[in-house]
Amino acid sequence: MFIRYARNYEKCVECGFCEYSISCPSPDACIGCEACFHGCPYNARKPVEDHKPRGRIKIVVDGSEFEVPERITAKKALELSGYRFTRFPEDDAIFAPCHTGGCFSCALVINGDLKPSCHTGVEKGMVVETNVEGRTPLRIIEGFSPHNVGGVGTPYQLKTGMGYIEVAAFAAGCNLRCGTCQNFHVTYNSSGLPMTPWEGAANLTSMRKRFRVDRMAISGGEPTLNHRWLVEFFKELKKLNSDSKARLHLDTNATILTKERIDDLMEAGITDIGPDLKALRVETFQKLTNIEDRELAEKYLNTSWEAVKYIADKYYPDKVFMGVGIPYNKFIHPDLKEIYEIGLKIASINPEIQVCGLDYRPEFRKRDIIQPTSEEMKKVKKALEEAGLKKVIVQTSRGHIGP
Ligand code: FES
Repeated sequence: MFIRYARNYEKCVECGFCEYSISCPSPDACIGCEACFHGCPYNARKPVEDHKPRGRIKIVVDGSEFEVPERITAKKALELSGYRFTRFPEDDAIFAPCHTGGCFSCALVINGDLKPSCHTGVEKGMVVETNVEGRTPLRIIEGFSPHNVGGVGTPYQLKTGMGYIEVAAFAAGCNLRCGTCQNFHVTYNSSGLPMTPWEGAANLTSMRKRFRVDRMAISGGEPTLNHRWLVEFFKELKKLNSDSKARLHLDTNATILTKERIDDLMEAGITDIGPDLKALRVETFQKLTNIEDRELAEKYLNTSWEAVKYIADKYYPDKVFMGVGIPYNKFIHPDLKEIYEIGLKIASINPEIQVCGLDYRPEFRKRDIIQPTSEEMKKVKKALEEAGLKKVIVQTSRGHIGP
């Protein structure tokens, strides 16, 4: 049985996002790629069974011929041909975490070009190579801009709000499906031009010069999804910014940040990191991120906590600055019990780590919530401090409140 995604006219508000930002790879005949389904800000796409007759076509994958149904993605064609795709990186599988065509982690060499297999339709005679090692990695990156408060991994003393302190770029594609996604215009963008790591690093470096700052950041979406791209990006950024003042900052949900990946990134030159710890309990994590597969949610959540501990033990504070983000809204936390327990757990790792409570607000699909008040955020701060943390800040609608 095949699925296509149809517009749900009861929910559609004609915002136009699916036309200007989500690029449909096959507007005349849905190939079931999922990009509009995940990326519609109003949840106005629904899966329906596709009973339209479809023929079979021949494709060549890694030199072998396969016969597959037409009107499906290259990813689906490979799955039907015995290739494995996963949403957590594994050695013998193709990593496909976003399913929206932005991260290019699932990219394969398709008819000679590197293309995201989740967002490319299968064609008669298509030739696919799954070994992409020799290819320059690509990824959709946009939103190059200066910022005056920075991100989660920015030290509090710099967040004065007086002038620019950092320039940042944003990577498309995320493995989570948070209804509160604050950057969904980038996260679900599949129409931007993919960039090489060298182009991304050169752009950010020229922004640094233009705005006369020393901090350069990449956020998302989720930057870590395309590991090869990110490592090359930071290596190049370091090469172009070899002075001692340069700071190379990664903001991440840390859900796939394994020890090996952390080591690669540290070696590539990052100096500041801001992992968001979405929750302590898997149920809370699922509620926030909408990851329905419990086993996968557990893996993501455990990996993010292990990443923070590993960075704290091995790299912090001498080799890297780490600031941790903790989301808060009543819809996630009806009381402060779990926030306090999160504080206890971070304090047991290292009480000196900067922790920032983030006031999650109505964005993307979660527009029925109310942004926490400054008073609520002060209570979050108090709970984290009572748990033993020494450097707690909270983000509020009026700016940051510091330690
Ligand atoms: S999984 Fe295909 S582009 Fe991200």
